[in-house]
Amino acid sequence: MGVNLRGKSLLKLLDFSTEEIRYLLDLSRDLKSQKRSGVPHRHLEGKNIVLLFEKTSTRTRCAFEVAGSDLGMGVTYLEPGTSQMGKKESIKDTAKVLGRMYDGIEYRGFSQRIVEELAEFAGVPVWNGLTDEFHPTQMLADLLTVEEHFGQLKGRKLVFMGDARNNVANSLLIACAKMGVDFTACGPADLMPAEELVETAGEIAKVTGSVLQFTEDVKEAVAGADVIYTDIWVSMGEPDEIWATRTKLLKPYQVNREVMNGASKDAIFLHCLPSFHNRDTVVGEEIYQKFGIGEMEVSDEVFESPQSKVMDQAENRMHTIKAIMYATLK
Ligand code: CP
Ligand code: NVA
Repeated sequence: MGVNLRGKSLLKLLDFSTEEIRYLLDLSRDLKSQKRSGVPHRHLEGKNIVLLFEKTSTRTRCAFEVAGSDLGMGVTYLEPGTSQMGKKESIKDTAKVLGRMYDGIEYRGFSQRIVEELAEFAGVPVWNGLTDEFHPTQMLADLLTVEEHFGQLKGRKLVFMGDARNNVANSLLIACAKMGVDFTACGPADLMPAEELVETAGEIAKVTGSVLQFTEDVKEAVAGADVIYTDIWVSMGEPDEIWATRTKLLKPYQVNREVMNGASKDAIFLHCLPSFHNRDTVVGEEIYQKFGIGEMEVSDEVFESPQSKVMDQAENRMHTIKAIMYATLK
């Protein structure tokens, strides 16, 4: 039976089968090639979407806006702190109202519970643009980037270095398990994914053949890796005070030349971005002044190296988000 995602929300990748993810990746490739060759694809003309952001964004917002416009849709952006949601209006009421006006809703914010509740009451597809727990639209871009680079996903080894229980790492664990990619979480024991999520991923991996590993040992983790992936050490929504302990805890897990040299010779580097790889940001400079660390989760050398595919990855956010919207709204 063919895959049909019409009307479905993307709240977390756990809700999608391997075949459905495969379908979205293939659709992303088609839409990317149409965009590149200037073939118009305004398939959703007359529809409207709303982008509800409770946290800041560059890539996710722009990807939804450009993809929505390429598909011929009207796009409304609600920036953090400017809607009634949560303060003067419940999630349920907000969902019902937006569902009366829009054909689809993107939500970026805090608890996964909020995006699940929006989807329960909106009556239209809801897409999770990042919560504290998961970042599923990011995963499609990451999988597409790995597949474009290596020609296939199955059997490749991806290592996530650092805060291995943040939204991106949680999502990578599931994305890799679903697609038969071997996944290693490498970080301090205190920052490993929740036991329940590991168990769920383990059940999925039994079917797809993924090998899942969790280790504090950098050398052991990166041996044979095709993809080294990292993310910032303190995620949006976490208190500023945490920087002091996080920098200490995660410094040994910085992706630098030595780490890349320990991986496969053809290994690539990925990062969801934004990244603190130098002092050219307000936070980067502050951390340097306080703790003397000028490059955090990745060294500037690796970030700027030919092995780094982070800009391909960032571009793929747009093509994959377009595929999700098209598949669920067509
Ligand atoms: N990777 C990602 O979600 O980037 P933004 O925070 O800029 O949207
Ligand atoms: N873990 C990061 C991802 C940013 C795209 C955060 O939540 O801030």
